[in-house]
Amino acid sequence: MRITTKLTMIIAVLLVILFCTLGWTSYHHELLMIQQQAVDKARILSRQIIETRDYLSRSVMEEAETNYALVPQVAASLISKRITEGSPYYVRQISLRNRNPDNRPDGYEIAELKKMYKESKPIENFQIVSDHGKETLRYLQPMIANSSCLICHGNYETAPDFVKKRFPKGHPSYNYQIGEMIGALSVSVPMRDLYENIHSQLLRALGIEAVVLLLLLFFTGWLIHRTILKPVSNVAQGIETIVNTGNYTQQIAQTSNDEIGQLVCSFNELMSELKRRTQQRAESDERYRNFIEIAQSPIITFLQDGKIVIANQKAEKLFGLTKKELLGQTICEFMAEPEPLVKGINDYFQAGSSSLIGTTSRQTVRDVCGRLFEVDMVISVSQTEQGAMFTAILRAVKDQET
Ligand code: HEC
Repeated sequence: MRITTKLTMIIAVLLVILFCTLGWTSYHHELLMIQQQAVDKARILSRQIIETRDYLSRSVMEEAETNYALVPQVAASLISKRITEGSPYYVRQISLRNRNPDNRPDGYEIAELKKMYKESKPIENFQIVSDHGKETLRYLQPMIANSSCLICHGNYETAPDFVKKRFPKGHPSYNYQIGEMIGALSVSVPMRDLYENIHSQLLRALGIEAVVLLLLLFFTGWLIHRTILKPVSNVAQGIETIVNTGNYTQQIAQTSNDEIGQLVCSFNELMSELKRRTQQRAESDERYRNFIEIAQSPIITFLQDGKIVIANQKAEKLFGLTKKELLGQTICEFMAEPEPLVKGINDYFQAGSSSLIGTTSRQTVRDVCGRLFEVDMVISVSQTEQGAMFTAILRAVKDQET
């Protein structure tokens, strides 16, 4: 797999994880916000209604006698109905000791009211309940009796006639004490509509984020390719070309000063150095060849196995062969007795020195026609890349010279 693909995949995975985490947290955040807002609205609504009722309870006296619509409960109910019309908020005023059967609490409310009655100072209470997958916010705000309420909810005897007439003696809606909880304001809000809003918002946000994510992915991929992978692959290609062609003159263009730029720079330096060394070697080879070419003695350079690699003009003349013919042959073929030479070379490799090297010895050599000559031979050794190289300088013994 190419690095671009690998990197793109890693980045993609990281971005997707980031994307999902962000989406998930923002979704939950929105959800909490919506719930919080619903609770806040329910609280304000119930406070408004409770205050309305309180106001009416303190200011309306005999009027309720002739106009039932001015009974605090009745008026507050009508007002709350008008306020909440067209909104998902549904408001009721409930009591366990109700006068009006419409104000009878439902199962959830009964359970919660009972709990609240037990508390010395009941406070608001809310919860999101799920019924057949439908989530509803249930909010309850307690209604506490004050002295004004007791006119109609206190002693039966002191209650206004219209109340007495409707709710006979012994009705549970009498005999409240100041500070006692008479009932509660109950608000319920179906959450589905509110949630639907965030669902569509979230989908839109996710869509936008996905587009941004893709663009980001393409952009980072392109950037990494351009700034890192392309230059690295240029260097790799450069090295490959050099390995294939052996051409050290090549240089790679340096486009930046970062680590990649340094790599390119080092590579170019390496190439210059190699070029310089190759040139130097070629020059010294050339010098050596020129030097032995003009030497007055036959000179032969051969490898460990005796194979001739360099021979000069005088050597050609001595053995009666051209340079081309000499190269590749072994020196032993031209020796009358090759054994001492072979032994000397072997000694050199085994013991590190040999009596043959550096000293002049008398040897008998043979030319291409089989004629024998006596020569004085000096062998020197030099270390090269191909291993040890031996150079034999021959000098024909005077009286035999041809
Ligand atoms: C003028 C008389 C009067 C006063 C004052 C009064 N109420 Fe009532 N209240 C009634 C009547 C009558 C009903 C029944 C209304 C109906 O038929 O819906 C009622 C109903 C209620 C209910 C609904 C439960 C039920 O019994 O059906 C609650 C709760 C309530 N009153 C609380 C209060 C509180 C709290 C106060 C004081 C802030 C108060 N009332 C002051 C006469 C009064």
